[in-house]
Amino acid sequence: MNVNGKHYETIWLDPANDRVVVIIDQRYLPFRFTFKEIRTVDEMFNAIRDMAVRGAPLIGAAAAFGIYLAVLNADITQNLDKQLQISAGKLLSSRPTAINLQHAIDFSLEAVHNEPDYQSKILAAKSAALEICRVDKENCRRIGENGLGIIKEMSRIKGGEMLNILTHCNAGWLACIDYGTALAPVYFAHDRGIKVHVWVDETRPRNQGSRLTAWELGQHGVPHTVIPDNTGGHLMQHGLVDMVIVGSDRTTANGDVANKVGTYLKALSAMDNNIPFYVALSSSTIDWDMTDGIAQIPIEERDPDEVAYIGGLSTKQHIERVRLIPVTSHAMNFAFDVTPARLVTALITERGICKANRQSLSELFPERQSDIT
Ligand code: MRU
Repeated sequence: MNVNGKHYETIWLDPANDRVVVIIDQRYLPFRFTFKEIRTVDEMFNAIRDMAVRGAPLIGAAAAFGIYLAVLNADITQNLDKQLQISAGKLLSSRPTAINLQHAIDFSLEAVHNEPDYQSKILAAKSAALEICRVDKENCRRIGENGLGIIKEMSRIKGGEMLNILTHCNAGWLACIDYGTALAPVYFAHDRGIKVHVWVDETRPRNQGSRLTAWELGQHGVPHTVIPDNTGGHLMQHGLVDMVIVGSDRTTANGDVANKVGTYLKALSAMDNNIPFYVALSSSTIDWDMTDGIAQIPIEERDPDEVAYIGGLSTKQHIERVRLIPVTSHAMNFAFDVTPARLVTALITERGICKANRQSLSELFPERQSDIT
């Protein structure tokens, strides 16, 4: 997608030195558009844990580049497999909810394992990371095309009037390599002249909505309005939301969806107000081994200080952090929640649109039928 008219993806290899991975450092957006160079697997671990990169598909790609850096910097006098197992375990512990991390690490380790010598292992790890990026980009493009069909139809029913779409967190290109999942259909619709406006949940405590979604929609010229997280229900009751589209960090084989905390409450409001609630996801986000999201999906618990403090730009143009709660109060910070499949109107995937249930998902991905326990 474009930033100030120039095309960017979220992660890439330095063209002058392919031992360096470059990321857009999302911690400083929307105030500073800066890059960070990453040279070691430990630096990649920190970038994922501290959310310099975030969003399920991007976390997966970043982890694959982490494995590449681990191979590149390995001590070749010692057992490589053992070193990679340690690196993989560390990367995996950085963010537990998004299944993309596990999928990407498995894919990369297998690619490396199949090669006979050290040099070819380096090349295999690099190719695996680049392949994950290529596939994610293509999947997001297809999600955009598939979701566009839904938006077109809703716009037709509304007689071409402005379509109001509510989203939570950031499931745009910043969360992926390019295009995004939930936002890809929005960009495709906007680019084709369909009138769309996005209600952007601010998404406390990290504010991915007000900081990232608002920024990337603005860069692309999509009309949008940032709202406090608790506003969605009121807007829905007053006919101001036509549809909800969110992303996913892990979708179970029966269609339960883990996404940024607060997504579940939006799904409840949408159901109560007869508003379609769509989840856009690449199949890299499906956990075919799980069939009960609430019982099985690990929910990341982050530092309570993310709730106790908030960061932003001061009137003096400094990025500052201020405390929000009494020094004697405790805070709690669950990063995700699970929306049960029954509240999801449909899943928008790269293969097409399907109901959020085991049968429809396995019809769309017949090759995974045997994986469903
Ligand atoms: O904590 P984050 O910012 O990594 O959470 C991201 C989300 O919850 C996104 O909605 C999700 O990863 C969808 S990805 C396109």
